[in-house]
Amino acid sequence: MRHLFTAVLASVLTLPAFAAKEAITYTEHVAPIVHEHCATCHRPGEIAPFSLMDYKTARAWGKSIKKAVHARTMPPWHADSEKTEFANDRSLSQDEIDTLIAWVDQGAKQGDPSKTPEPPEFNDTWAMGEPDFIFHSTRDFDIVPLEQKIKYQSIHLGPTLEEDMYITEWEIRHTAREAVHHANLIRSPKKLEHVGIGGAVQTGGDYIGSYLPGARPFGYPEGSAVILPKGNTIQIQVHYVGQEEPLTDHVMFGVKFAQGRVDRILRTIGTDNNDIEIAAHDANYTKRAEVKLMFPLTLFSSGAHMHLRGSGYTASAILPDGTEKLIADVPRYDFNWQVNYELAKPIEMPKGTTYRIDAKWDNSESNPLNPDPASKVTYGPWTENEMLTTWSHVILTEEKLGLKVKDGRVVGQFDDRIDKAHPFVLQSFPQTFGD
Ligand code: HEC
Repeated sequence: MRHLFTAVLASVLTLPAFAAKEAITYTEHVAPIVHEHCATCHRPGEIAPFSLMDYKTARAWGKSIKKAVHARTMPPWHADSEKTEFANDRSLSQDEIDTLIAWVDQGAKQGDPSKTPEPPEFNDTWAMGEPDFIFHSTRDFDIVPLEQKIKYQSIHLGPTLEEDMYITEWEIRHTAREAVHHANLIRSPKKLEHVGIGGAVQTGGDYIGSYLPGARPFGYPEGSAVILPKGNTIQIQVHYVGQEEPLTDHVMFGVKFAQGRVDRILRTIGTDNNDIEIAAHDANYTKRAEVKLMFPLTLFSSGAHMHLRGSGYTASAILPDGTEKLIADVPRYDFNWQVNYELAKPIEMPKGTTYRIDAKWDNSESNPLNPDPASKVTYGPWTENEMLTTWSHVILTEEKLGLKVKDGRVVGQFDDRIDKAHPFVLQSFPQTFGD
């Protein structure tokens, strides 16, 4: 027994030394990482500015790859995955980071081309299968070639619904995929001039979800659905980046109808804080936003929106017994990527839980996005002002609507329903969620 233990220990101990001596090559070590973690964006016809699928280009970008993976700015994933487990995690493990860095340090060698693994297949079709219904953009957007600073576009998708529609799956597709950096989709009773998550919820609408290259459809728990109410319009806010060729984007929002029974509606809760005043050059300004819950909720995801000086935030739930549960720690907030962090395990938040965000800003010259460290910054809607809005997808834990649904439409009700929480009780943001 003792021998076995020593033998195992010895092999564990010698592993790093062995790994360090081993020649790291593109074909054997780097390509598998690129295929899994970079290819969704770094392949021809996708948003990233260069492909990592061929050795020569990858080698040419070697130094930049080392810097980006070391600083964890690439892949774009700004949360700490050690502290919370996420369902849509894109981050690299420390091993994978070490391998990429060692490859660059050793001269970015190619290795034996016959050992290159098969590249993943990407089909330009619906990942969720054929949708039951598709909403289309009513105005296609022309993307100016090579323009890097296109204002976020608010695009309307039709038709406007004549009756409530319940859906259990959705997917967003763009015809000019290679020019779409990311996008957020909302519904609202009225057309918003500037689409935003907070604005949608404040007008009695809701945030439905986001588009990122390679994002997979969000899976809702059994018996829950998203409602697209009668009269609401669907809108999407898109961040485009100009490519070499002129392109025109047509947006599609495909949905799968709920069937059978729907008990719970997926909704967005959130909180905000507009009391922001950041002094010139202040590298570490902090602000808290919190709300006490009046209903027991089950929480599935978390996101926050700040502007160019936003540098990080933590979202947590302080349960009535004082236990603190971390929802997400995002130490590297990046305005250019508005990520919705989906939890691998939902968090139960009893009535009386405090939903809290602690956010920070960096108004110093060491923030590369900072347009003017010498200016004082206060709350406002433009990127040169600051704001703090946060959101989470939740269900009302005790909701039991007992809706009989066929092809996304309500056709009756089950007798065991509980009317305690009506679907529209919680739709104003954020006051109705707490005191
Ligand atoms: C979700 C899409 C996406 C994924 C996944 C992704 N990238 Fe990127 N990458 C981009 C975009 C877009 C840019 C252009 C700069 C920007 O918008 O941040 C970029 C830029 C870069 C740059 C240029 C320097 C920089 O930081 O801007 C490097 C290097 C890079 N990516 C490496 C990688 C590597 C290595 C992986 C995989 C381990 C990866 N990226 C995964 C989208 C992605």
